[in-house]
Amino acid sequence: MTPEDKKRAAAEAAVDYVKVDTVIGVGTGSTVNHFIDLLAAKMGDRISAAVSSSEASSARLLALGIPVVDLNEAGQLDLYVDGADESNERLELIKGGGGALTREKIVAAASREFICIADDSKLVATLGEFPLPVEVIPMARELVANELRAIGGTPRLRADFITDNGNQILDVHGLQIDDALALETRINQLAGVVCVGLFAHRPADLLILGSDDGIKTLQRQAAPQLHPTTQ
Ligand code: A5P
Repeated sequence: MTPEDKKRAAAEAAVDYVKVDTVIGVGTGSTVNHFIDLLAAKMGDRISAAVSSSEASSARLLALGIPVVDLNEAGQLDLYVDGADESNERLELIKGGGGALTREKIVAAASREFICIADDSKLVATLGEFPLPVEVIPMARELVANELRAIGGTPRLRADFITDNGNQILDVHGLQIDDALALETRINQLAGVVCVGLFAHRPADLLILGSDDGIKTLQRQAAPQLHPTTQ
């Protein structure tokens, strides 16, 4: 199976968890693009609407006939489905390779359940080989970069990239993240940081991985049990 086949398989499995007539939270990225396509094909107008984490996902949802609503109107969501750049076995994630980390973290925080979909290469023993994205207010870029160096990372400005929120991203290389909760808290507190792409305070509840051996699922300990719905 190619990585793309695995992503599609994980996305297909996630559609089974979506309840009809609900507003669903939708993430960003190539795996989520499969999810959006399959959601539209399999559930079509039985989805009330989506809250989207990026302009790119909104455009794709709307093109396939799924209405997009503002989170302020939708209130709390039942389910959020999104990809990740890395996950550990605690289902703590690195996200933001696509640059949508801030809105992704907002929609994840607003959702009772969070299903992460990925190909099996994304499951790692220790987070940090994938550079950790940090969205920064442009005037604070160098200030934040110096603080990130003090933490032990090597920040690099993502070239020619502005987020949907009008900010810049520092990709932090060289971190070995043993305590994701502590690092998320520490980076969040730096003046000028909008969002760090560590999802440890709000990890995924269920990780669905596409692999050569089929679908693998990891349920986070202490997360509510998630079950596929019967469509
Ligand atoms: C978007 O900002 C990211 O958080 C994505 O969820 C992540 O980069 C995974 O993307 P792919 O599904 O394209 O691998």
